[in-house]
Amino acid sequence: MPIIFKLIKQISLYSVHNFITNLKKLNFFWRRSQVPTKEPIQISTIDKLIIFLICIVISIISSYKILLVPFLQSSIIISWSISFFEVLISCSFLILVSRKETPTINSRQILLIVSLLLFVQAIKTIFGSGISPLSIIVPPALIISQGMGSITALAWVSIATLSWPDSIIEINNNLLLITLICSSIVSVLGGKIRSRAQLLQLSIFVPLGALLSQWLLIGNDKFSLVDNQEFFVSNGQIFSDSLLLAIIMLITILFIPIFESVFGLLTKARLLELADKEKPLIRRLSIEAPGTFEHTLLICGLAEEATRMIGGDIDLIKTGSLYHDIGKLHAPNWFIENQDGSKNPHDEIDDPLKSVEILQAHVDEGLKYARKNRLPKPIANFIPEHQGTLKMGYFLNRAEEKKLNIKESDFRYKGPIPQSKETAILMLADGCEAALRAMDINASDQEALETISKIVISRQTDGQLDDSNLSKGEIFLIKKSFLNVWKRIRHRRIQYPTTKNNTFS
Ligand SMILES: [Fe+2]
Ligand SMILES: [Fe+2]
Repeated sequence: MPIIFKLIKQISLYSVHNFITNLKKLNFFWRRSQVPTKEPIQISTIDKLIIFLICIVISIISSYKILLVPFLQSSIIISWSISFFEVLISCSFLILVSRKETPTINSRQILLIVSLLLFVQAIKTIFGSGISPLSIIVPPALIISQGMGSITALAWVSIATLSWPDSIIEINNNLLLITLICSSIVSVLGGKIRSRAQLLQLSIFVPLGALLSQWLLIGNDKFSLVDNQEFFVSNGQIFSDSLLLAIIMLITILFIPIFESVFGLLTKARLLELADKEKPLIRRLSIEAPGTFEHTLLICGLAEEATRMIGGDIDLIKTGSLYHDIGKLHAPNWFIENQDGSKNPHDEIDDPLKSVEILQAHVDEGLKYARKNRLPKPIANFIPEHQGTLKMGYFLNRAEEKKLNIKESDFRYKGPIPQSKETAILMLADGCEAALRAMDINASDQEALETISKIVISRQTDGQLDDSNLSKGEIFLIKKSFLNVWKRIRHRRIQYPTTKNNTFS
C-alpha cells in the first residue's frame, strides 16, 4: 500500500510540475505574440494644468445656461452637474484617444485640440442656435484630421456636434445630422489626403454635398441666394450655409501651413513636399555628396518596402530617410561613400578619436541643418536615432591597436536609440545597405539573408531596438523585405571603394 501511495504522490507531483511548465510556456508564447505598446510621451505638469483649465472652461460654457433660471432647485443643480461632468469626461476621453492614436503627440497639439473645442463652444454660446453648425464644426475637423489623425478628429467631431449650450431642439436635427456626416467624411478623408490639391477638392465637394443633402432633407423653400443680414449667422439658409462652409474651408486650407509650423503638425501634404528631391538641401546633397545621395536613395527603397510590410507610416520614412545623413554635407569627403578610393583623410590624420568626432559631427550638424531648414521634429528625429548609440567599431579597433587609453563609450554615437518603428527600420536599413553593397554579386539569397540577419541581431543584442516597439514578427518581416529589395537591385549594384574591414558609415 505505501508503494501505491508513493506512486500516486509522484504521479501527481509530476503532473503539477508538467502543468506549471506548460503554463509558463503558454505565458511565454503569449507574451512573444503580443506587439509591445508604446507609452505616450510625458506632458509637463504646467501643460497638464493649462489643458485641464481649458477643459473646465469648456465644461462651464457648455452647461452654465442650465443654471440661468429664476429659482435654483436641487433638480436643476443635479442636471447642471450631469451636463458639466459629461463634457469634462468627454474632453478627457478626447485627450486619451488622441494620445492613443498618436503616442508622439505633444502638449502643444493637445492644446490645439482643446482650444478648437473651446472656440467652437464659445461661438455656439455667443450665437446660440443662429450659427450654422456646418461652418463651425467641419473646418476644425479638417485641421485635426490632417495634423493628429482621423480617429482623434472623429472623437472631436462627436463631442462638438452633440454638446450644445442651448437645447438642440432649437437647431434643425436634419442639419445636425448633415453636419455630423460631413465632418465625419472630412475627418476620415482628411487623415488620408496626400496633397493640397486633394484638400481643395474636398473644400468644394463637401459644401456641394452639404447643399444637396440640405435641399433634400430640409427642403427647397429655404434655398434663397445670399441674404446679407443672415449670411454670417445663417441657420438653415441652405445656400448661405454651404457657401459659408466653402469659404471657411478654403481659408482653413490657407492657414494649415501656419498651424503646421506653430503647433508642429506633420500633415501628409507637408511630408510629400519635404520629400521633393528638388528641395535645396536635397539638391545640395546630390551635388556635394553624391555618394551619400546614392546611399540615401537605396536606403529609401529598403526602408519603404520594410515599412509597407509592417504597416508603418510610409510617407514619414520616405522623407525621414532622405534627410537622415544630411549632416554629412559639412564634410562629405570624410565619409567612405564619397571617396574616390585614392586617399582616405582618416588614414592621413591617423587619429581614431578625431575620426570619431567627425563621424559624430554628421549627427550634430544634421540637427543644425534640420533646425535651420525648419524640418518638423518627427523628421529631425531620424538624424540622431538612425545612429542610436552604435559603436564605431572600426575606429575602436584602430585605437586598441595603437594601445590608446580609451573608453568604449567614447567610440559610440551619442544617441538616443530609435524611439519609433520607423527610425528603427532606418537604422537597420542603414546598416544593411552598406553590407549588401559590399557583397559579392553572385551571392545567393541565403547568404544575403544571413548577412541581413547578422546585422539585425547585432543591433538587437546591442540594445538599439529596445525602445522601438518592434515585435519579433515585425523584425522577421523587415529582414524578408530587405532581401526582396536586394534581389531587385543587385543587378545594378555599385561596389563601394572599400574593403570589408572599413565599411563604416
Ligand atoms: Fe548616418
Ligand atoms: Fe546613412
